[in-house]
Amino acid sequence: MRTQVAIIGAGPAGLLLSHLLAQGGVDSVVLETRSEEYVAARIRAGILEHSSVELLESVGLGARLRAEGDEHRGIYLQWPGERHQLDFVDLTGRSVWVYGQTEVQKDLIAARKKAGQEIHYEVTDVALHDIEDSPYVTYADKNGQSVKLDAAVIAGCDGSFGPSRAAVPAAKAFERVYPYSWFGILADVAPSTDELIYAWHPDGFALHSMRSATVSRLYLQVPNGTDPQSWSDDQIWDALATRLGHGQNGWKLHPGPITDKSVLPMRSYVQTPMRHGNLFLAGDAAHIVPPTGAKGLNLAIADVALLSRALVARFRENDPRLADAYSETAQRRVWRCTHFSWWMTTMLHTSGDPFDAELQLSQLRWVASSEAGATGLAENYAGLPIFL
Ligand code: FAD
Ligand code: DHB
Repeated sequence: MRTQVAIIGAGPAGLLLSHLLAQGGVDSVVLETRSEEYVAARIRAGILEHSSVELLESVGLGARLRAEGDEHRGIYLQWPGERHQLDFVDLTGRSVWVYGQTEVQKDLIAARKKAGQEIHYEVTDVALHDIEDSPYVTYADKNGQSVKLDAAVIAGCDGSFGPSRAAVPAAKAFERVYPYSWFGILADVAPSTDELIYAWHPDGFALHSMRSATVSRLYLQVPNGTDPQSWSDDQIWDALATRLGHGQNGWKLHPGPITDKSVLPMRSYVQTPMRHGNLFLAGDAAHIVPPTGAKGLNLAIADVALLSRALVARFRENDPRLADAYSETAQRRVWRCTHFSWWMTTMLHTSGDPFDAELQLSQLRWVASSEAGATGLAENYAGLPIFL
């Protein structure tokens, strides 16, 4: 089998890349270890930056997002006794959208199917070969048959556990592991707030997010290694109520039936370069951010926007310049988002050190009360344009 671009991974990065390449007249084949049902149901991120929404809309993926997503002007920052709204639209002219990654993934799968795109699910033993000269990928299809896929380019969109990352020799990795995790729940209850609440509390960080008018998504800072089944539903709602300020100025957190519980460890990871020979990395295959600030999915979208443009120029116009610049161009945004995610994480999560706690509160007061501070957060959260 032969294609122009062999895409490893059918997450948001891989599927969007295949969609953007097809629009530019470049063929691809997508390989995925999981089943279609599994990738369409994974519960992950929930916030789309302004530029991600613009991009999805500009390539025909905005209809359900506009109809079922929810535009948010900003967020609340809170700590005991105080809640402050940051209005991103007033501060920067840019908003964000609440639209689950699960929905983005479903839209991408539907669009790729409609276009007749080959996505090979449930493959095993994926291996990358001869990346510098005549690249090819070998794998076993879902019936166990061995397949060789020849390609001019391999796009590694296989997340943090796939084989692409390790296929870049002499790569440099930067890493920070945090001493806490997020306990995430999904609940069948109307959100108790109109905008997301990011809360600092001596017991630990909490976040009130949402998926729709009837589904809430909430997170609690917990120690690493926490077993989600070790917390009863009542314990979870009590901790959320305390940390999110139930009773503060009459605000109430409304509990409801919990439909999903999971614990997510937090780390920052950046691998550079994002290209070796004819292999290009995009999304979580090249970098991981802690979730505070909602950058993971948006970074994956921005990477493939750059990469698709670079590959279309290379294949259609025989112009390698954007492809040659891809790693460096993408890394500028990666490091901006890595810093912002680290900054939000360390400002909002408690580490038990009273000195750190006072610094965090001082920084939160400054961000909430200074236009310069608020604009800095808003600019990063609502996101930079994709093509700077
Ligand atoms: P992925 O979505 O990981 O997709 C990679 C794909 O490659 C997967 O489908 C995988 O099955 C496939 N794959 C792996 N190995 C192989 C192989 N050998 N061959 C073929 N395919 C392979 N971000 C936020 O901003 N906010 C959040 O709240 C948030 N929550 C998250 C919760 C969890 C549990 C996780 C894991 C991530 C979360 N993220 C969050 C991060 C965000 O979801 C990711 O940044 C985003 O999914 C990146 O997209 P991607 O396509 O690069 O990688
Ligand atoms: C969500 C996740 C985030 O990491 C975040 O900062 C905001 C919202 C969410 O899953 O809804």
